[in-house]
Amino acid sequence: MHKIVVAGLDGCLGSAFLGLTDLLTLARRAIGGALPPSDQDSGGGDADFCVVTASATGRPVRDGAGATFEVETSFEEVTTCDAVIVPSFAPDPNGKPPDMSAHAAAAAWLRRHHSRGALIGGCGSGVFLLGEAGLLEGRRCTTSRWHHEELKQRYPRADTAWGARLIDDRRVVTAAGPLSWIDVALHVIRTLCGPDAGRIAADFTLGESAPAKGGIRGAAYNVSVLGDSSDSFLSEAERIVRQSDAAFNAQDLARALSTSERTLHRRLKQACGESPKTFIDRIRVETARMLLETSVKPVKELAASAGFIDEASFRRAFRRFTDMAPSAYRVWAKSKSQDKAQMFSVRKDSEIIPEILTTILDTCVNGVTLTDPDLEDAPIVYANKRFEDITGYSVAEIIGRNCRFLQGQDRDQEGLRRLREAISNRQAIEVTLRNYRKDGALFHNKLNITPLFDAQGQLIYFLGVQYDVTDQIRAETEIGDLKAKLHSLA
Ligand SMILES: Cc1cc2nc3c(=O)[nH]c(=O)nc-3n(C[C@H](O)[C@H](O)[C@H](O)COP(=O)(O)O)c2cc1C
Repeated sequence: MHKIVVAGLDGCLGSAFLGLTDLLTLARRAIGGALPPSDQDSGGGDADFCVVTASATGRPVRDGAGATFEVETSFEEVTTCDAVIVPSFAPDPNGKPPDMSAHAAAAAWLRRHHSRGALIGGCGSGVFLLGEAGLLEGRRCTTSRWHHEELKQRYPRADTAWGARLIDDRRVVTAAGPLSWIDVALHVIRTLCGPDAGRIAADFTLGESAPAKGGIRGAAYNVSVLGDSSDSFLSEAERIVRQSDAAFNAQDLARALSTSERTLHRRLKQACGESPKTFIDRIRVETARMLLETSVKPVKELAASAGFIDEASFRRAFRRFTDMAPSAYRVWAKSKSQDKAQMFSVRKDSEIIPEILTTILDTCVNGVTLTDPDLEDAPIVYANKRFEDITGYSVAEIIGRNCRFLQGQDRDQEGLRRLREAISNRQAIEVTLRNYRKDGALFHNKLNITPLFDAQGQLIYFLGVQYDVTDQIRAETEIGDLKAKLHSLA
């Protein structure tokens, strides 16, 4: 049986300490109930584990808000274990993680267990204790974005990734955000107990946090129906809607079911509590949801395939049933299918390639950006070092924004019209724009944009190469002015 220790440290976030204990205990029960003993090894691990809470002295832990929590034992009494999880800390008065030198004994204890083969996890600012233990040296790691610089400063030998959600580098697991204890706990379960146990724990824990409502949830790719699926009237209605085109409405549905509109209304209300129109919309949204999960079709095309008359009505209906924009749903579904807890794990396989490419791109003399046209307002998802230098903004300030922020108020530019047209036609283009650095200084940006397509011809990203041509433009302007003067003299 595996032993997972939740480390109780004075000054921690009480919610993280208690949450970890609750999640692990409940997940253990869920896995035990779902996996019969004979199946427990099928995922490649022993699905049984116990949870132990420990503090430096074995006395209750006092969290950052002054509340105290009992623990079962002291660190010294835990001589063997398979994983230790360190919860986040409450920030100090300056909003920073507290000074870790107060936890030197805990750090030494962590180091010892890691050297004996245990998995050590740090959640949010809890990652700083792993730094104090020397476990981040030469390791790829992450923490909450707002602590990124602080982590780099305090532990300069850590290989700190910006913006990664969870990283597991040689049994040191680090995660970003005050609620990352959920990610870390699930990752630990998965690593120790195998993928089946990990999946059960994740479904059990995160089931209620799925973004959709109104019956849209369900196993991936399995289109769900509200009410009784053995109701043949409902099944038939659903089949008809799935095969219908955009012009199909409630009247057509009643006709196809050989019934009156009134009866259709009554029966649907009885079976699933929906009006015919809502029923039709929901089935179409479910189809769209499946397409978003399984294809890379652009939203417009996908709306038509799902039976919507146009993109706008699709977006409205999708939001009504899922509370999300289609592009956001696609990103969410992708992350779920990749198994959230594994998303940013560092492996020596293909995942190392983006890192190597990043290193290469950072040495480029031009700015390089990638924007994602599938996300709302096509934000920048990657920017290299040179782009930071040219613009004066840090990567943290750049990622997630549309590049137009560089134009400031200077939006009346000839090049923009051509640029918009090329982007909407998915064509390459080169334009020179007036842009403004963070300090407000004007620079002339020769921008080269190339659409990047996948093997199926679907647009996946736009690549932007930014070249600062300010000196060149200034020289040209001076020459122009000089020529004009000479001309007037002549
Ligand atoms: C890959 C890529 C990189 C871009 N880089 C810049 C840039 O460096 N500076 C800039 O002013 N606009 C840049 N843009 C253009 C803007 O993002 C936007 O497309 C442009 O302002 C026209 O759209 P709008 O009218 O919605 O602003 C870039 C666009 C793409 C696709």
